[in-house]
Amino acid sequence: MKCLCHAPHRGPVLTLAWHSQLDIQSRVVVGPGAHRRLPDVLRQVHCGNRALILFQPGSSEHIAAELKAPLERENFEVVSHEVPDGEACKDAEILMEVWTLLQKHRFDRHDAVVAVGGGAVTDLAGFAASTFKRGLNLALVPTTLLAQVDAAIGGKNGINLASAKNLAGTFYFPHVVVVDPLMLATLPQRQFSSGMAEIIKYALIEETVAGSSDYQPGPRPLFDVLEQVLDSAFTYDDPTLTGIVISCIKMKLLVVGKDPFESGLRRTLNLGHTLGHALEKVSDYQMTHGEAISIGMIYALKLSVRKGLIDGAALDRLRALLSTAGLPQEIPAGTDSAKLIEAIGHDKKRQGDTIKFVLPKARLGVVDFSVDQPVKELPEFL
Ligand SMILES: NC(=O)c1ccc[n+]([C@@H]2O[C@H](COP(=O)([O-])OP(=O)(O)OC[C@H]3O[C@@H](n4cnc5c(N)ncnc54)[C@H](O)[C@@H]3O)[C@@H](O)[C@H]2O)c1
Repeated sequence: MKCLCHAPHRGPVLTLAWHSQLDIQSRVVVGPGAHRRLPDVLRQVHCGNRALILFQPGSSEHIAAELKAPLERENFEVVSHEVPDGEACKDAEILMEVWTLLQKHRFDRHDAVVAVGGGAVTDLAGFAASTFKRGLNLALVPTTLLAQVDAAIGGKNGINLASAKNLAGTFYFPHVVVVDPLMLATLPQRQFSSGMAEIIKYALIEETVAGSSDYQPGPRPLFDVLEQVLDSAFTYDDPTLTGIVISCIKMKLLVVGKDPFESGLRRTLNLGHTLGHALEKVSDYQMTHGEAISIGMIYALKLSVRKGLIDGAALDRLRALLSTAGLPQEIPAGTDSAKLIEAIGHDKKRQGDTIKFVLPKARLGVVDFSVDQPVKELPEFL
């Protein structure tokens, strides 16, 4: 395993403090070497002396181990706990295990749950931290690209129930997030591509987000930047990655700060997710979140083209970018469409006979996030 402590510190470590409507502050430390800031940032948010580190076997175990000693040097009493890999940890039994540990070690409301891993672990940790004693400190150390730009940012969490993903969860904003690209060194290419799907999603909503929040885009649209820098060799240590990740994080923080409970602007973040979540479910989570979202984004853009909201050239550009990122674009052959439709019907964004869809409109970067799409019309687009 690659040792993070010997990795050179390249580039800045930014601290973004964010005050939402709920007067909550999330400190998001970003940049190569950011993991070294965990103990001091936990102190900045007045964390207590206990930390429960949740990690997954193999993938985030070595990172959890490297975070433990510096925390102990700063007088934290650290309890480390392994949870099952991937989606299997977002489970009621595992949640109960975490609650039981917190109780056994007498955690109080100032102490912290620290999640080290992908979005599955950060989702589980967020739910556990928000519910135990009605809220502990929560620190997220995302180790997948997808979790760094999305899952660990913005305060949604949850576990899966038998019928669908994320059916039980809360809104609970992490107090600390540490986003360190060095942690992606061991990430398999397939998971890296999965994170790129969420980054491409941000590119598809950037202009709408800039027009409705304090987000300030760079001199060139994110979509154009991605078209320029992405190639098959693009990886975690590309010098442009930190800047791209920071843009995505800022977009998410500013959208969520404006609309924490998803009554409007936050819906933009769901682009591609209605079909995406359904595909993940019917594939029995064999498809990654990003792969499913990639197909969902193509589906949304096809819907836009069919409705005359955008021209077909936009679809071609999206297809080319997703293909460079190594992402799928078609529903896998053999997918049971009846099951897929049923899974779409369970979508949390459903209201009666319609589902709120986010559809690209006019040009890439702009979306309409209030399209009431009749559920019964969806099968014809599959
Ligand atoms: N809360 C939110 O706002 C939000 C947003 C998007 C996605 N999510 C959730 O996030 C989950 C998907 O997250 P994900 O894509 O990170 O998947 P994941 O957490 O399942 O991780 C994917 C795989 O990568 C491995 N891994 C993690 N870090 C690694 C590393 N540095 N090196 C090597 N392997 C590593 C994991 O062990 C796992 O096998 C889903 O459950 C999804 O619902 C939540």
